[in-house]
Amino acid sequence: MSRAAVLSGLGTYLPPRRISNQEMSERFDTSDEWITSRTGINGRYWADVGTSSGDLAVEAATRALKSAGLSPEEAGVDSLVLATTTPDHPCPATAPDVAARVGLSDVAAFDIAAVCSGFVYALEVASNAVVSGRADSVLVVGAETYSTILDPEDRTTSVIFGDGAGAVLLRAGDSAEPGALLGFDMGADGRQKDLIKIPAGGSRQRSNGVAPEASDSYFTMQGRKVFAAAVQRMTDSSNKLLERIGWSMESVERVVGHQANVRILRAVAEQLGIPTERAVINVDKVGNTSSASIPLALADAVVERNLGVGQRVLLTAFGGGVTWGSAALVWPDVTPV
Ligand code: COA
Repeated sequence: MSRAAVLSGLGTYLPPRRISNQEMSERFDTSDEWITSRTGINGRYWADVGTSSGDLAVEAATRALKSAGLSPEEAGVDSLVLATTTPDHPCPATAPDVAARVGLSDVAAFDIAAVCSGFVYALEVASNAVVSGRADSVLVVGAETYSTILDPEDRTTSVIFGDGAGAVLLRAGDSAEPGALLGFDMGADGRQKDLIKIPAGGSRQRSNGVAPEASDSYFTMQGRKVFAAAVQRMTDSSNKLLERIGWSMESVERVVGHQANVRILRAVAEQLGIPTERAVINVDKVGNTSSASIPLALADAVVERNLGVGQRVLLTAFGGGVTWGSAALVWPDVTPV
């Protein structure tokens, strides 16, 4: 037994406005058939005008505390880590505002930018803070409003991404307990930085002193290359992690992959040699919600797919950067709110 970060609460939030594939085909030159056959997505949720990622994060974090049955004071939260690609402002970070609105005073709060791998990155940083003794309780949140960065001229990205938020509460415990985070594998390859990017808005563009084209402020993605890299990196990372912690493929009961695309999730399970029915899929309902996708899929696994106490869960994600990360835990007695 050793000190470990233990998952003790899970909260999720989706904005109320669902956008069906039918509605997408009224806005863009696309069809329900194209979207479902290429991505597996049936619908996604987009935030209403005036709603930010921070607003969604506050809801999810509050629900994670509720799921643990604790008030912010009782939980003794010492840190809030927020993964997001769509912060409320370029500066400052969104996490301090979220922490204050959740009712946490003077706790460490910061954002993590690892695009769709953001939640696993945030989980790793938070877990290390607990294991090192620096923190006893951390809220880890993933929140996105991709609807604010999608190019209204780009039908490919517009049909894929959705808004939402998810959060987990971690507490100090020991590695033998269900819910303990048992290991991570993390990586990045900046040589592929152009596969996913927003060209304008950062110092690279601003230092040129030239006003950007409107389209440069939107999210761009080289879909086919991203597809191939996502399958390869999530598979390799999962293999490395399972080998390191000594879990066999057969023993993994749920693979909760970043919900990019049904075809990617099935391909990863196939390459790992895990039956595809163990791959948790909720991208059909919510689209790709980037750093919110893993906690949203975890909640779906518990509520819709009987993920039960004591079952082995593998989390794996891939995102812009490019970045990737995987984590392993045994599911605890936690009911999502
Ligand atoms: N509706 C209809 N047609 C569309 C379309 C849409 N929404 N989006 C693209 N198309 C068209 C293209 O214009 C192209 O037409 P053309 O052959 O006449 O040029 C055709 O569909 C094929 O486009 P392509 O980009 O090659 O399709 P694809 O089979 O690779 O599927 C993705 C596109 C984006 C669905 C796929 O590449 C993918 O899932 N990539 C991974 C994306 C992802 O998950 N990103 C996040 C990871 S973190």
